[in-house]
Amino acid sequence: MVRAPDQPVARIGRAPMAPGRERSGPPERRSLAPRSATITVMIRAAFAAAKFLKRDFGEVEHLQVSEKGPGDFVSHADIRAERTVRAELARTRPDYGFLGEEGGETKGDGRNRWIVDPLDGTTNFLHGVPHFAISIGLERENEIIAGVIYQPISDELFWAEKGNGAFVDTPSARSRRLRVSGRKDPARALVGTGIPHLGKGDHAGYHAKLAAVTERTAGVRRWGAAALDLAFVAAGRYDAFFELGLAPWDVAAGILMVREAGGVVSDIAGKPYELGGPSLLASNFGLRDSMVEILSKA
Ligand code: IPD
Ligand code: CA
Ligand code: CA
Repeated sequence: MVRAPDQPVARIGRAPMAPGRERSGPPERRSLAPRSATITVMIRAAFAAAKFLKRDFGEVEHLQVSEKGPGDFVSHADIRAERTVRAELARTRPDYGFLGEEGGETKGDGRNRWIVDPLDGTTNFLHGVPHFAISIGLERENEIIAGVIYQPISDELFWAEKGNGAFVDTPSARSRRLRVSGRKDPARALVGTGIPHLGKGDHAGYHAKLAAVTERTAGVRRWGAAALDLAFVAAGRYDAFFELGLAPWDVAAGILMVREAGGVVSDIAGKPYELGGPSLLASNFGLRDSMVEILSKA
């Protein structure tokens, strides 16, 4: 059967499902969403890279005891993961451009571009902390239209398509629709962030903002993988997330996920977010103005 590239197809590893149909069942299983061919290709690429990353992560845990640590080993893991993602994507979409954290930019058809972080959360990976992800976004005519974020250790697969919503597959639930939280009051909000580190960022400027946020909110978390931070906002786990100086590959998939889950992404002044811009704020709509107020006064 000939299929248009974005037509819904069978879900990986499951029986084919008619386009637009939902299975009946208990509420948490009702939103089994059809996936387009494009999302299916992206998920396959993420799974292929995850296979290597999981194996390498096991090695890294052994290498901690050496004085030099697993640094070189991890940079090879990064590069191999990107090559794997790239090769998988190119098998079915050879004309698309590619922007990856490790290999830089390759021009394509001028219309479509993959934006890939093969290992988001490198510092966690390097230290044997099991919180990292593969992030794949698809940009078409300067707009992100599809995103996949896969956490190989927890086996959580987040995915979104423009206009079709955002979803998560976990080991215990399939295709659960993601919704941002409903908390509007900063005093009840849990906020994710990324903290600058040695050799990166405006430390004093950032810490003033962090202090303002810690004084006004229920708590702040720094888990070390921006793609997952955004997926957590989409899932309503965090009520908001902010960071300064993120790169396009950190956020391409995640910003779509937040928007498709009913949230909003801007810069910390509330202005439209430009991919790779100096600051990012993601939250539900009800909390956005308070977060902008807190962050811009600091
Ligand atoms: C980093 C992580 C981290 C964020 C940094 C990113 P990497 O990406 O997303 O959470 O705070 O700004 O550079 O280096 O692990 O791919
Ligand atoms: Ca990253
Ligand atoms: Ca990375």
